Amino acid sequence: MKALVWHGPEKIRCEQVPDPKIEEPRDAIVKVTSCAICGSDLHLYDGYMPGMMNGDVMGHECMGEVVEVGAAARGALKVGDRVVVPFTIICGECDQCRRGNYSVCERSNRNKSMADKVFGHATAGLFGYTHLTGGYAGGQAEYIRVPFADKTHIKVPKSLPDDQLLFLSDILPTGWQAAVQCDIQPTDTVAIWGCGPVGQMAIRSAILLGAKEVIAIDCIPERLSMAKAGGAITINFEEESTVERLNELTQGKGPEKCIDAVGLEAHATATLDSMYDKAKQSVMVETDRPHVLREMMYVCRPAGVLSIPGVYGGLLDKIPFGAYMNKGLTMRTGQTHVNRWTDDLLRRIEEGQIDPSFVITHTVRLEDGPEMYRVFRDKEDGCVKVVMRPDGVGNGASRGATA
Ligand SMILES: NC(=O)c1ccc[n+]([C@@H]2O[C@H](COP(=O)([O-])OP(=O)(O)OC[C@H]3O[C@@H](n4cnc5c(N)ncnc54)[C@H](O)[C@@H]3O)[C@@H](O)[C@H]2O)c1
Ligand SMILES: [Zn+2]
Ligand SMILES: [Zn+2]
Repeated sequence: MKALVWHGPEKIRCEQVPDPKIEEPRDAIVKVTSCAICGSDLHLYDGYMPGMMNGDVMGHECMGEVVEVGAAARGALKVGDRVVVPFTIICGECDQCRRGNYSVCERSNRNKSMADKVFGHATAGLFGYTHLTGGYAGGQAEYIRVPFADKTHIKVPKSLPDDQLLFLSDILPTGWQAAVQCDIQPTDTVAIWGCGPVGQMAIRSAILLGAKEVIAIDCIPERLSMAKAGGAITINFEEESTVERLNELTQGKGPEKCIDAVGLEAHATATLDSMYDKAKQSVMVETDRPHVLREMMYVCRPAGVLSIPGVYGGLLDKIPFGAYMNKGLTMRTGQTHVNRWTDDLLRRIEEGQIDPSFVITHTVRLEDGPEMYRVFRDKEDGCVKVVMRPDGVGNGASRGATA
């Protein structure tokens, strides 16, 4: 089959690889009709996340049709079912899964001892996302093997197009969880750093959850326009100071809730802290660039909440923990517990409350994937979200530049 394969930083190629097979009784094989590139994939493309190996198949946002089911998954799935594949692989039975803490499933990460060493405790297996999270082949491919498939799936109706359902795999529940973790009150100002796909979903979610106002921060004009269309007030951090403007908009008090939808590759205009990060990262003595995290700790209203869906990889320098502690802030983080949210979100899509397809700017073939990684990373051609159709058709209405 065809798949997008990682061969090192900025080296992703569309190649022939062996078709996946059922390996365990709870596996299923899904024929992928649509898949997408995530901002988290960019951390692998840019080489900032440890644990990738030459030949790994990329991708953790995909959906399609079940074509084969292992004996132990047959009660839950059958050939022909249409499913979205959640990016977190879940056993459904361990202590954490039973509590709905799916992204820290205790059994789905088959490289547990490696992850135990790096993070203290292993987290769930993830598709296409480093050997620290199990080294499972991803879904930017014609087919994907889904382990623990009796639990690791979201069944979706045939009546809606792929484009409306695909993002149940990751960015929609991720933006939603980021907003839910803020415990939004009707009097709250929610500030959201990053207007990429995750930021866009967080903006819509915060508004649906009843925030008084949402302020979105980025420097890419078309992403800021999309944020504005979703109901946010916008700040272009290249044109004005994020901290000053946020204080101005909140009468000097700061936003009650702050969401980091940027993560470890934050850009900044030439501030002292960002030059420090760049210099340290370039000689590999700092793994991440936590500029946004510092800004959030500094500007958040005392007793406020920081919610962090943005991915971090390792050790972060110069964190203003004094501000964080003395202001009595709360931090909520994590990879998304996808299946905790998807029944509710699917219902909201079916009822027309949310249509996450608004972020799609490019619909292309799998063969165009390697070039689209670069276009998405460099934010060229107005690119916000790339969807690929491994079968050349999908079931959704195609739109965008290269469809
Ligand atoms: N927690 C999870 O489960 C989960 C799931 C999906 C994605 N993520 C993470 O969420 C983050 C965002 O993902 P995405 O797909 O939207 O990626 P993206 O790269 O498209 O978006 C990031 C955006 O942040 C903006 N940005 C950079 N520096 C900034 C700054 N200083 N202030 C404000 N904005 C700034 C960029 O211009 C860009 O638009 C990534 O770190 C990704 O790994 C986490
Ligand atoms: Zn993702
Ligand atoms: Zn589990």
